[in-house]
Amino acid sequence: KTPIYILGIESSCDDTSASVICDGKVLSNIVANQEVHAKYGGVVPELASRAHQQNIVPVVQQALEQAKITKEKVSAIAFTRGPGLMGSLLVGTSFAKSLALGLQIPLIDVNHMQAHVLAHFIIDDATTPPPFPFICLTISGGHTQIIKVTEHFKMEVLGETIDDAVGEAFDKSAKILGLPYPGGPLIDKYAKLGNPKAFAFTKPKVGDLDFSFSGLKTGILYFIQKQQRINANFVEENLNDICASIQFTIVEILMDKLKNAVTQTNIKHIAIAGGVSANSEIRNRLKLAEKHFGWFTYIPKFEYTTDNAAMIAITGYLKYLNKEYADVSVTAKARLKV
Ligand code: KG4
Ligand code: ZN
Repeated sequence: KTPIYILGIESSCDDTSASVICDGKVLSNIVANQEVHAKYGGVVPELASRAHQQNIVPVVQQALEQAKITKEKVSAIAFTRGPGLMGSLLVGTSFAKSLALGLQIPLIDVNHMQAHVLAHFIIDDATTPPPFPFICLTISGGHTQIIKVTEHFKMEVLGETIDDAVGEAFDKSAKILGLPYPGGPLIDKYAKLGNPKAFAFTKPKVGDLDFSFSGLKTGILYFIQKQQRINANFVEENLNDICASIQFTIVEILMDKLKNAVTQTNIKHIAIAGGVSANSEIRNRLKLAEKHFGWFTYIPKFEYTTDNAAMIAITGYLKYLNKEYADVSVTAKARLKV
């Protein structure tokens, strides 16, 4: 049987990424991060699309080189259609269309949020994919959702954030503390050295399986401002403890909702996906949940948590097997549901 090579292209936000997978196994997964946003405290859409334009060709070339294949070997091209920033999506979409046309191979459109979930189906000796049905907590810079997954492409949103995404909660809290963007990984880093019970932040009250993070952010802001009036060096002197306490509160919120989801659905196979699933505390707490609550948990490899093209390629591969191709008139979509 001839091997199937899928070239995946991701450009939905501020990472330009390309990946080649062969029969579901990753041969390369190149990610070019855009440093330019750090000093602005968030992603600047105009700068993101320009950086994608600059990075896309070298990133794709590197992905092919590292996979040791020529572009003529590629069976199909999968690209992120949405959701994301329009200017960023357009770069990947146009590039993927042209390349597919040039090589006369199928083009496959991929939903970025489905791809975060389907990253669990990358074939890898170190991980086992979750069995259907499973619950996936999808936590990223733009989304916070509890999804019931009954088939690869049958996903139902059971709950989601009514305001900020959890990644935003991390990044905005970090900004309050004077840390650069994206602050999530930095909070994680400093939290390792701090006391999670040092400061208490109020958890939001939102119904059912929905989330809300904007109140928490405001609570943190007021707390820090109040402390700084007493001691101007409050943040510097307590950075580790503040980070540990913020992270603890956020992870508590996530775990509370997951427990509710398990009670409601009676599904004990729990996966996490998206950039925030790189967080060490949520990873630890999920492992503990196997022991304490009898859950079966699925934690993606670190490199498949934040935005990457391997997850786009595996989703493209699953669609390729069903011959679900896109028409060349397909357009990028900033808003797209799972
Ligand atoms: O999935 P992703 O790469 O991009 C989106 O689709 O949004 O997620 C990025 C988000 C950012 O908010 C970033 O701060 C957060 O994931 N993040 C983390 C960690 N690593 C990335 N948040 C907390 N702890 C981490 N270790
Ligand atoms: Zn993402």
